[in-house]
Amino acid sequence: MRSKYRLIGMFALSWFAILSCFSFASAETCLTTDCHADLAQFKYSHSPVAEEDCSSCHEQVQEQHPVEKGSSFELVETGAKLCYQCHDAMGRKLTIHSPVQDGDCIDCHNPHGSDAGPFLLPVEHDLTELCVNCHDSDAFTHDVVHGPAASGACTQCHNPHESNFPKLLNKSMEKTCTGCHVEIADGMVNSPVIHKAVEEASCTSCHNPHSAPAAKLLQKDIQSLCMDCHGDIGRKVKKAKVQHPALYRDEKCSACHATHFSTFPGLLKQSEQDICLSCHGKDDYKKSKPLKNIAKEIKDKKNLHGPLRDGECSGCHNAHGSDHTRLLRGAYPKSFYAPYSKGSYDFCLECHDKNLLRFPETSIYTEFRNGKQNLHYIHVSNKYKGRSCRACHEPHAADMEKLINEEGANFGDWKIPTRFIKTETGGSCSPGCHQTYEYDREEPVDYER
Ligand code: HEC
Ligand code: HEC
Ligand code: HEC
Ligand code: HEC
Ligand code: HEC
Ligand code: HEC
Ligand code: HEC
Ligand code: HEC
Ligand code: HEC
Ligand code: HEC
Ligand code: HEC
Ligand code: HEC
Ligand code: HEC
Repeated sequence: MRSKYRLIGMFALSWFAILSCFSFASAETCLTTDCHADLAQFKYSHSPVAEEDCSSCHEQVQEQHPVEKGSSFELVETGAKLCYQCHDAMGRKLTIHSPVQDGDCIDCHNPHGSDAGPFLLPVEHDLTELCVNCHDSDAFTHDVVHGPAASGACTQCHNPHESNFPKLLNKSMEKTCTGCHVEIADGMVNSPVIHKAVEEASCTSCHNPHSAPAAKLLQKDIQSLCMDCHGDIGRKVKKAKVQHPALYRDEKCSACHATHFSTFPGLLKQSEQDICLSCHGKDDYKKSKPLKNIAKEIKDKKNLHGPLRDGECSGCHNAHGSDHTRLLRGAYPKSFYAPYSKGSYDFCLECHDKNLLRFPETSIYTEFRNGKQNLHYIHVSNKYKGRSCRACHEPHAADMEKLINEEGANFGDWKIPTRFIKTETGGSCSPGCHQTYEYDREEPVDYER
């Protein structure tokens, strides 16, 4: 490798030049002879060369100079020792670059000078060409290239000689990255929620430092990357009957999650409702049956359903995937008619009284009763035409009390109006379903008459 990549040949010195240098007159110096005059002409000269102090490195071992097919000069020291005469010796740090270890300083440096750039190097600022003499260039040529690597500023991160950090880094891995990406350093200190992966693993567990196949220098597609560590979520979602399309589109996981740190629980990018409404606050899903615009649905409503009032969507919906309709966290029938059976309304009954629908008569489990007669039982538990909660209640918000559905539920093409009036001890409805009925908990209306 050494001779192959030797860069000393940078300056032209042909045998023709040497042979034509017949007389080595002592009055002349090495540089003023026709032979080595080119050594005086570097744009960037090595100090001892500029000072014509050739003998600090070369010593004459034969009187005759030049000699044909031989050498009358030898180097005063071998390998790096030649340089250490004047420069601090290297090789005491934990990681030593292989060519430095081997004393091959001149694999990178021209001992005399360079026309290309400073530091006696064969390149100017872009070091790539020099480094890929020995390193595989593949690492630098993926689709997305990191700014400093693209410009060959290798030494912004690496020490070319030796270092106390792995991979010849100038600093620890984290400080290497946050040295330039100060906003990440700030966020890591000032945010209440920090991703453990960023706190505990290195930046390069997700990013490539030089170039990468995926956007943002990610090692792979963001979803596979996240799933590598969060495989449980991947497996659950794959098995789920309803999968949230947001996981598979555009920004995928990062549509909702920040990746390094966040102000919001669950490492969310914004507050939960703001995140959900960023997509579900629009009408523009170009579908024949678009989903409701939830922002519109809840805007300015007098009564928000408890969890929504508390800023949640995920109390009811599983943002990733679920086995239940509309990503709900429990069983809830899809259809308008759905007689109660054990388990079928678990979603609502997880938070509300689990006996709501069980008994034809009650004086405690619901306010929706005529005397003791449980009107929830009548409407929902009716074996032939049990109605789901959506017949009367809004899931998210309503102007009417008790989340009663003012505009009414969809019954085929028709929205059944509810016309609910609440009183101190009961209420009345004049829905599209039947004539006006009243109920009273204390003085039950007698429908036997
Ligand atoms: C800092 C040390 C150093 C100084 C100072 C130095 N050289 Fe060299 N020189 C070298 C080394 C190292 C080589 C390469 C030897 C090799 O390739 O094995 C070299 C090689 C050469 C060669 C042979 C070129 C070749 O391609 O093999 C000549 C001629 C030469 N130097 C002339 C000079 C002259 C003239 C001066 C003074 C103006 C000078 N050197 C000063 C280190 C030095
Ligand atoms: C006789 C003393 C001497 C020897 C031997 C010597 N150097 Fe130097 N070198 C110097 C001096 C003096 C400077 C200028 C230092 C400065 O400007 O601070 C220098 C500067 C350099 C620089 C920086 C050049 C720049 O543009 O800033 C490099 C790189 C370097 N030497 C490499 C080497 C290598 C490689 C060897 C061995 C092949 C070597 N030196 C041997 C004296 C020497
Ligand atoms: C893999 C290539 C490579 C090898 C091998 C190498 N250097 Fe360097 N060296 C560099 C680069 C690149 C710089 C410029 C550093 C910068 O940009 O800060 C440099 C800078 C220097 C400098 C000047 C700046 C400083 O750090 O003091 C000296 C002196 C030097 N090298 C000496 C040596 C000596 C002596 C050896 C052999 C023991 C050696 N180098 C081997 C690449 C190399
Ligand atoms: C003369 C050949 C040569 C040149 C030129 C060279 N390297 Fe290396 N480098 C090696 C060898 C050999 C190794 C050790 C084997 C390996 O990991 O590939 C190495 C290893 C490394 C390592 C890994 C160190 C570790 O501890 O694993 C880094 C980082 C590195 N080189 C950076 C650079 C940079 C930056 C440049 C250009 C300034 C450069 N190299 C130029 C030969 C070279
Ligand atoms: C932004 C900082 C940065 C820049 C710029 C950079 N590197 Fe690296 N490099 C790293 C980090 C960090 C690693 C360690 C990666 C790891 O361990 O996963 C590394 C590793 C390496 C390795 C070792 C690879 C291995 O698998 O062991 C080589 C070689 C290397 N870099 C060469 C270069 C070269 C050549 C350049 C310039 C073209 C360069 N680097 C620019 C940060 C950087
Ligand atoms: C020398 C300064 C510097 C260092 C050190 C540095 N970066 Fe960068 N990084 C940049 C610059 C400049 C950009 C481009 C910024 C822009 O386009 O806004 C960038 C962009 C990025 C990007 C976004 C890429 C994209 O395609 O949008 C990521 C991710 C990144 N860096 C990660 C890292 C990691 C990880 C490290 C540590 C291994 C690191 N950076 C170290 C300067 C640096
Ligand atoms: C768990 C994986 C992971 C880790 C660990 C990680 N990142 Fe990222 N990083 C990402 C993802 C994913 C993105 C893209 C996020 C996005 O687009 O919202 C990203 C984006 C970036 C960006 C570009 C930001 C922008 O707005 O363009 C920078 C810079 C960055 N990361 C730096 C770092 C630094 C520095 C570290 C280490 C302190 C680090 N990352 C650790 C996953 C990670
Ligand atoms: C290197 C492994 C790793 C990768 C890759 C990874 N994570 Fe994590 N993530 C973790 C660990 C460890 C935790 C902490 C888990 C715990 O405490 O149970 C975590 C926690 C989380 C949390 C919960 C945070 C909280 O405070 O509630 C979210 C959300 C998260 N990760 C999202 C992501 C996303 C999105 C990606 C892809 C950009 C990702 N993770 C990639 C390891 C990883
Ligand atoms: C539509 C928005 C959204 C998308 C897309 C999304 N998440 Fe989440 N994620 C959430 C919400 C909301 C939570 C619950 C936060 C809470 O409970 O505080 C959460 C919680 C998490 C948690 C911590 C709790 C748990 O369930 O383990 C992890 C880890 C997580 N998500 C990873 C991911 C990964 C990986 C992806 C991509 C495959 C992803 N998320 C995509 C919204 C989303
Ligand atoms: C990046 C955009 C985006 C974000 C953010 C988002 N969603 Fe969605 N969501 C969608 C898309 C796209 C669909 C499918 C729309 C369709 O089928 O018409 C969907 C569907 C749904 C459905 C119906 C699922 C079904 O198949 O019946 C629910 C419920 C839902 N999202 C709730 C939420 C909740 C809760 C949040 C916040 C945690 C959220 N979404 C955040 C894009 C998003
Ligand atoms: C108290 C529980 C609950 C909360 C909290 C909740 N939802 Fe829902 N959501 C439901 C129920 C129940 C349905 C199903 C309604 C139906 O099918 O009749 C639903 C349906 C949906 C749908 C489908 C709408 C359609 O067109 O059928 C979307 C989208 C949705 N919710 C988004 C959200 C968003 C966004 C939030 C937070 C702002 C949220 N939900 C909070 C219970 C809730
Ligand atoms: C995650 C828990 C949760 C789920 C699931 C849930 N609710 Fe609620 N619900 C609440 C909370 C909390 C309140 C507010 C209670 C309060 O203000 O005292 C509430 C209030 C109500 C009210 C109004 C009661 C009042 O006194 O104003 C009705 C009606 C209601 N929910 C119906 C339903 C229906 C129908 C379902 C199923 C589709 C359901 N809820 C699912 C938590 C939930
Ligand atoms: C026929 C219309 C109708 C149906 C169907 C209906 N409800 Fe109600 N619900 C009401 C009325 C009216 C009230 C208000 C009672 C009052 O306060 O006078 C109410 C009140 C409630 C309340 C407040 C606490 C209570 O029981 O008084 C909850 C919780 C509730 N309903 C849940 C449900 C659930 C869950 C379903 C579906 C399984 C459902 N409702 C189906 C009409 C209905």
